[in-house]
Amino acid sequence: MDEKREVVKREKEDYIDLTRSEAQNHYRTEATKEEVKIPEKQQTAVNKISDFFESKFFSWFFHYFKSRFGPRHDFQNYKGSDDNGIYKLVSSSSDSGKEISIGIAGDWATDTNESDRIGVLIEKKKPDYTIHLGDTYFVGMKEEMKVNFINENSSWYRGKSGSFSLMGNHEMYSRGISYFRDLLPTLGIYSKEEKKYLGQKASYFCLENEHWRIISLDTGYNSVGIPIIEYIFKPKCEFHDDILDWLKNTLDLKNDKRGLVFMTHHQYCSAFEEEYNKPAEQLAEIIGGEREVLWYWGHEHRLAVYGKFKREKGITAYGRCIGNGGMPVEFKNKLKEDKAKECKLILHDERKNTEIKKIDIGFNGFAIMKINDAVLKTEYFDINNKHLLTEEWIVDNTGKINLVKMDVIDKELSVVNF
Ligand SMILES: [Fe+2]
Repeated sequence: MDEKREVVKREKEDYIDLTRSEAQNHYRTEATKEEVKIPEKQQTAVNKISDFFESKFFSWFFHYFKSRFGPRHDFQNYKGSDDNGIYKLVSSSSDSGKEISIGIAGDWATDTNESDRIGVLIEKKKPDYTIHLGDTYFVGMKEEMKVNFINENSSWYRGKSGSFSLMGNHEMYSRGISYFRDLLPTLGIYSKEEKKYLGQKASYFCLENEHWRIISLDTGYNSVGIPIIEYIFKPKCEFHDDILDWLKNTLDLKNDKRGLVFMTHHQYCSAFEEEYNKPAEQLAEIIGGEREVLWYWGHEHRLAVYGKFKREKGITAYGRCIGNGGMPVEFKNKLKEDKAKECKLILHDERKNTEIKKIDIGFNGFAIMKINDAVLKTEYFDINNKHLLTEEWIVDNTGKINLVKMDVIDKELSVVNF
């Protein structure tokens, strides 16, 4: 193992049966410290095993206490800055006419052999941009940000034009502090002149050309509520007011005639788990309920593709869940047929890859989006670099998006015919 690592590589077994309980995630973070590799020169009696469990308990309690009752990190915005969070899609090569590619992975930051493999596979495809859809495990604290993203030996591939990470619920289990303070300054647009990434200034941004807008938004900041009460009044993951102001006044989204692609951590709809409708309702207040958009999300650790979907007060979206980046793909949440019909589920990946603790585990994966003027193509791959699916969209000059084709390449994907 590289001596730069402060936390040893986790195994996928560490993530089995992981709930979204804040307490459990803090406990697991502390539990991994049992495996912290400490350079010989720093080994002291403090680290004797007889002391460890007690210190682990207090350390966990300390983090838990701080998390539940301390203030969240301030929400960051673009106000008063020359950087407005809107960036032109540019090729990282000298060929300006080249198709622009974006590597996308969700729920990837587990620091396991599997997440490393996904990182390496994305790197091999050399996308111009990379976007993580959020969730750094277990609680997005500083050490976890370091091993997943910041250290030189981290496997997160930074696209040569830019690299970004969205806010998930797990980063907020440590109140978003390390996400804003440590991670974002290492990401953002790459400046060839300054030979560095300029920093991701906020948890939302837009990549655009004259035909498309890729708009990545933060549903994580409001995904954690008040202790105990949050189990009764569940957080709605709504967008912060600063995001709504930016969408209306900086992006002028209402009057935009480009194809819209949203990216968030949380899902608008699901055939398997709960839904988060509030962000879609907030978007509908800006662009109306009928405008059709593409929407990529994670949070659920699976690959699933949905058809045209709209909740009563929400926008009309074609959803794609790609939260299979690094967490074990478990199948414990079974397909709910009524929800699948409602959400227009088209296909999902239920292929069994392996078994851990007698639990069936599926395949991790990622997606590569390729934008060529008005054409947007997304290719989906699994952890064995197997090409599973390709979809291709085109946008007209009114902003209407049309599916040109969807090729299901791997015939073992579960195609749903409702
Ligand atoms: Fe999540």
